[in-house]
Amino acid sequence: MTPDLPPDLRQAVDRLMEGRGRKDLSARAQKISDTYRAGGGSAAVIREADDALAYALTRLPATYAACARAFHEAGLKCPEFSPRSLLDAGAGPGGASWAALAQWPDLDQIVLLDSNPTFLNLSRDLSAGRSVRLEAAERLTRDLARPRDWPDADLVMASYALAELPQDRLAEAVIGLWEACRGLMIIIEPGSPEGSRRMLSARDTLIQAGASILAPCPHGMACPVHAPDWCHFVQRLPRSRDHRLAKGGDAPFEDEKFIYLVVGRSDLMSSPPQARILAPAQHSKPGVRLKLCTPEGQLEMRDIPKRDKSGYRDARRRDWGDSL
Ligand SMILES: C[S@@+](CC[C@H](N)C(=O)[O-])C[C@H]1O[C@@H](n2cnc3c(N)ncnc32)[C@H](O)[C@@H]1O
Repeated sequence: MTPDLPPDLRQAVDRLMEGRGRKDLSARAQKISDTYRAGGGSAAVIREADDALAYALTRLPATYAACARAFHEAGLKCPEFSPRSLLDAGAGPGGASWAALAQWPDLDQIVLLDSNPTFLNLSRDLSAGRSVRLEAAERLTRDLARPRDWPDADLVMASYALAELPQDRLAEAVIGLWEACRGLMIIIEPGSPEGSRRMLSARDTLIQAGASILAPCPHGMACPVHAPDWCHFVQRLPRSRDHRLAKGGDAPFEDEKFIYLVVGRSDLMSSPPQARILAPAQHSKPGVRLKLCTPEGQLEMRDIPKRDKSGYRDARRRDWGDSL
């Protein structure tokens, strides 16, 4: 699994930026991030092609990295899953679809759905001449808050999109997406306390609808993580020079906090449940301590001593977000 944008996508962003003023893009990016921080959605700030490009410059690398990680975990859980069709709901510039293609290269019927045509246009520009299947994808201007106005697919996903729906439309949208799903459905959201709460609400809705919970939770029981703690993961990704300039920081990398959920139809083959590591591993002289969510639906701090040679060898190779 690599969290970096695929070279074709990176070059497509760079190409679109040629001749565009960096200051103008940075100002647009700042406005977008201020709006997100204030709890607003993208519709208010992504109106022109350059707004969408500013989003792609600053957010696409991180949302791509989070998707790549979530899809990697889904692939580990369901190694035999080989989808042909994809519905990318709230697709924006299409980064999640690029990440899905990297994980499941047999995807050949792709639908990008978004309420904002400016984003869909950017997704087309980014794929033109660089990804035959994404260039050929169907693009639907649709409102996720209006239930079930979209086609079925083997793989249905919504990346950083539920956050933009009105709270009272969330359950209906989630059910609508689940009804369209023939195999796996994957939701990715910001790894904030609100993102985690939203995910738990989607998880409850999906459990009631009969979905099997596959990852990150190793069970479909009540979530054992309670406030002020919240379940989330972190994916590190490199920052390009333009990305650093647009974000106004010097660090050559960024840590994207995210939360995800993989659910599936019960007839889908998946590996047996394994405990999930919910925090950075704590290494010490006697061994390693892991915070786990277990298949029994419990939180557990597990110490794995060095004298347990094979257990320790295995645990040492794992960290936050992995299963044990
Ligand atoms: C934060 S962006 C995420 C884009 C992309 N999925 C990603 O991971 O980078 C949220 C996307 O959801 C779309 N969106 C917001 N509300 C929507 C709605 N009601 N129906 C369809 N799409 C919506 C926005 O237009 C935007 O493209």
